[in-house]
Amino acid sequence: MKEITRKELIKKYTEFFKENKHKLIPSSSLIPVNDPTVLFTTAGMHPLIPYLVGQKHSLGKKLTSVQKCIRTRDIDEVGNSTHHTFFEMLGNWSLGDYWKKEAIEFSYKFLTKQLKIPIEKLAVSCFKGDEDSPKDEESFKIWLELGIPKERIAFLNKRHNWWGPAGKTGPCGPDTEMFYWISSKKPPKKFNPEDKNWVEIWNDVFMQYNKTNSGKYAPLKQKNVDTGMGVERTLAVLNNLADNYQTSLFLPIIKEIEKISKKKYEKNKKEMRIIADHIKAAVFILGDDYGIKPSNTEHGYILRRLIRRAIRYGKSLRIEQNFITKVAQTVFPIYEKDYPELKKNRNFILANLDEEENKFRKTVERGLRKFEKISKNKKKIGGEDSFLLFQSYGFPIELTEELAYEKGVVVDIKDYENEYKKHQELSRTASAGKFKSGLSDDSEATTKLHTATHLLNEVLTIVLGKEVKQKGSNITPERLRFDFTFSKKLTDEEKKKIENLVNGKIKEKLKITKDEMPLKKAFKSGAQGEFGHKYPEMVSVYTILDSKNKRGWFSKEICTGPHVKNTKELGHFKIIKETSSSSGVRRIKAELK
Ligand code: SER
Repeated sequence: MKEITRKELIKKYTEFFKENKHKLIPSSSLIPVNDPTVLFTTAGMHPLIPYLVGQKHSLGKKLTSVQKCIRTRDIDEVGNSTHHTFFEMLGNWSLGDYWKKEAIEFSYKFLTKQLKIPIEKLAVSCFKGDEDSPKDEESFKIWLELGIPKERIAFLNKRHNWWGPAGKTGPCGPDTEMFYWISSKKPPKKFNPEDKNWVEIWNDVFMQYNKTNSGKYAPLKQKNVDTGMGVERTLAVLNNLADNYQTSLFLPIIKEIEKISKKKYEKNKKEMRIIADHIKAAVFILGDDYGIKPSNTEHGYILRRLIRRAIRYGKSLRIEQNFITKVAQTVFPIYEKDYPELKKNRNFILANLDEEENKFRKTVERGLRKFEKISKNKKKIGGEDSFLLFQSYGFPIELTEELAYEKGVVVDIKDYENEYKKHQELSRTASAGKFKSGLSDDSEATTKLHTATHLLNEVLTIVLGKEVKQKGSNITPERLRFDFTFSKKLTDEEKKKIENLVNGKIKEKLKITKDEMPLKKAFKSGAQGEFGHKYPEMVSVYTILDSKNKRGWFSKEICTGPHVKNTKELGHFKIIKETSSSSGVRRIKAELK
């Protein structure tokens, strides 16, 4: 078979679904705006979460996309032939439209007609059933009717044939997966999912449940289809390549690593794969319009880990000079046509990679020596030592763990965490910060307080003056906390006035609307954003309508939500405390009764 390129595969896929009445949606950011329970977009369905749970999508009910994704759960598996931190996912969706029959027929047609995979090389798996959801006989029958022999259909349990939710809660359901026989040997009649020659290439998820906070699987309002096909893996198997790193999506990167290290890929696969994978992922994270930089929390921490892990594996290849930016430069030509943000943020990406490498190189040598000393003749590394490696030598705990593992030593993670907590007051905000808009969860109480925060933000500018700006917000189900620029302690009179105005707006029963629009348009329309915050190109704007106001609204903010529908739902607003937060910044804590 003639080689198929990434471009061709993507085109074939998207054209096929467009012909079948799907609308193509652009890849969205790697930082999910709709799911506070994860750090990164891990699948094509991520940006679609609100629409999978019932919201109307402006482009209709049938969508297709090529989504850039980051998965860090499998980071330890990177180094084998198929796991990646960064990858692209092809997908098609039915948002309460078509169901199993059409979805499976689309998949079957695309595989056998478009990609021309002979049916003898295909096998599938379906969900076996358990207490949460019945056995998927329907998919089984559809596959049979399409001509897949029954020996080639396996029923597997939840661990294999269930997908989602992507984070802690959200849409999920049983799936049916498609496997391709990669060996040159004749495929066996019976499908054995354990046989490594059967490689999974596509997954059709039937999302009809919503996993709730309490761990229950509640039926969704609508039945959705969510499918995902990894570009890297599919290209590798279709082109008969030994592994994903031999595809054009990795080869230029691997070649550069070979050149710098003066070593061969064939003999140093694990190290080179990790370096190539991690640098590519780091380029994409830095390249996203959010402006994430290496740091010790959240997204920045993952980024730091990726870069430092790549440097460390570079050391295993005896690369002692800076090399990250050199390798990174080979990533751009592969992707920048499809992801213009890479080109736009090129300087930012390279400067940060270089800075991080310089920082780490300054201490890594001494850190490795320290590690040797610490771990010598020991079975266990305690918190004080691993924290020292983190604090003074910049070793992410996962790196210490990995080094320890190689020596057969364990790291006491609990002890490390205790040490970390002791030293870092700030770490407390790490988990809270995971939630966009400073929300600790998306409960009803939190949602109400979130809307109250928008009212408060606007009211403050009325009572204290236009120059008052939001500096931060943090909301739990019990109270809101709002920081803003203002230099003096508020008087009792001012506080009363603020409360009265907020409560007045609650009593006026103002409606709240949500619109999606390009960032520029949002700012033009008068929407407020947080100063210095980097936003994606498409944003949601929440407006508290107000017909008495000349402009037709009381408050307008760029925000990821969620919010209540009408201010009448809020109850009575009361300030509990007003204090100084830092120089020139005041802090209000308030509740709703
Ligand atoms: N969400 C599913 C997956 O990631 C299908 O796209 O496999």
